[in-house]
Amino acid sequence: MATRLFEKKDHADLYQKYRFGPSEELQKIISYLEEKTAKPYKLSVDVGCGSGQGSTVLVPYFEKAVGIDISEAQINQAKQSPNVLNISFIVGPAKKLPLEDGSVDLVTSYAATHWFNIEPFMTEVERVLKTHGCMALST
Ligand SMILES: C[S@@+](CC[C@H](N)C(=O)[O-])C[C@H]1O[C@@H](n2cnc3c(N)ncnc32)[C@H](O)[C@@H]1O
Repeated sequence: MATRLFEKKDHADLYQKYRFGPSEELQKIISYLEEKTAKPYKLSVDVGCGSGQGSTVLVPYFEKAVGIDISEAQINQAKQSPNVLNISFIVGPAKKLPLEDGSVDLVTSYAATHWFNIEPFMTEVERVLKTHGCMALST
């Protein structure tokens, strides 16, 4: 399975060291969200979050942020990053998000959706998003 690439700790260490965050994309994503739905924004979810760079940049905009990844090694690495006050990292697959129906303002996924079984993932996104919630996929 392709996701095994991300299972090992040494790969997660390298990812944390060298992977850059989505800085330019972020403003576009937040502006789009602002067009579609009113503040306050309660919850963002970053699926296939890896070592968490894309999840932590969302923290200032949301009451709470969650990063989810199928790789325990990546999640362990993400948990060690600074600036983790309003963020939690959870091990789990994209096809079964441990979130309530209609609870999420923004779902993001950077460089990860090509690994997912896309139909169950999209069904989950539809389930967890609020009305007028947004999804931003970057790959
Ligand atoms: C190329 S990395 C991208 C990580 C991060 N989004 C970033 O931009 O740095 C892809 C990530 O997707 C995760 N992944 C792959 N298949 C997954 C699945 N079915 N459910 C959740 N995460 C998955 C991998 O473990 C890996 O951490």
